[in-house]
Amino acid sequence: MSFRVVRCASNMVISYFDYRYLKPSPHGFPYTADIEPTNRCNFRCGMCQTSVWNRPRGDMTFDQFRYILDSIPTLLTMQLVGMGEPLLNSDFFKMVDLAKRRHISVKTTTNGSLLDAERRKELLKSSLRHVDISLDGATAETYEKLRPGSCFEKTIENITQLMVERGSAQTPHIRVWCVAQQENLEELPKLVELCHKMKVDNVGIQWLLNNFGITEFEDKSISARRYSRKSDILSSWHRGCCARS
Ligand SMILES: C[S@@+](CC[C@H](N)C(=O)[O-])C[C@H]1O[C@@H](n2cnc3c(N)ncnc32)[C@H](O)[C@@H]1O
Ligand code: SF4
Repeated sequence: MSFRVVRCASNMVISYFDYRYLKPSPHGFPYTADIEPTNRCNFRCGMCQTSVWNRPRGDMTFDQFRYILDSIPTLLTMQLVGMGEPLLNSDFFKMVDLAKRRHISVKTTTNGSLLDAERRKELLKSSLRHVDISLDGATAETYEKLRPGSCFEKTIENITQLMVERGSAQTPHIRVWCVAQQENLEELPKLVELCHKMKVDNVGIQWLLNNFGITEFEDKSISARRYSRKSDILSSWHRGCCARS
């Protein structure tokens, strides 16, 4: 058994007891981390706080990334994404590769717009374990309205090709991830059908989170006037799921 395995396993045990009994004075080190490779983005989605930020934007350098990994030798898993489009960082796949060499399992989330043939090839030969691709609509009209800067046709083409090129390989696991909002609620069944057609592994629905305290944010939560019962909202979604099975 390697020294790393022993260290990571004992750290997890310590962290578990910290969490259960010693919350104010932890002794363990992190075994998972969210690392933001960039806070730049090529979209301006209406529900996302990055769209209204006026804070400085930039990329994490590869040296900074290596420094973080050196500082936390107990890491076992990592989400290489934050508020921004991770594939805009030109060192993204180099970072995934370094994480692999440190035996860290990596997940990411992308808007899918930059998954051209070359990046798909890099993604498929990388050690990424799981990739979420955000798709907040089943039609160009809705998707492009919710995600200014996007092109529905291009994103669909990128996902479709990615699935063809990955074929039956087990990794990376590919999931389409959708934030349910007023504008796309009734398209959810169609979105499931579209994902089925593109042969993605899973489709997940995330309810819209609040405005993160940013007052300029438009409230996009689901209209209680329009939907009087929870079942009204969910029935079309449920029909879509049944149609699939
Ligand atoms: C911040 S984005 C970063 C990755 C990439 N730019 C993307 O769009 O997939 C990560 C995820 O957060 C979701 N997201 C953004 N704003 C949200 C909100 N207000 N509530 C819930 N999810 C949100 C996005 O749809 C995306 O799936
Ligand atoms: S693409 Fe992702 S990071 Fe960019 S604005 Fe949309 S949700 Fe936010």
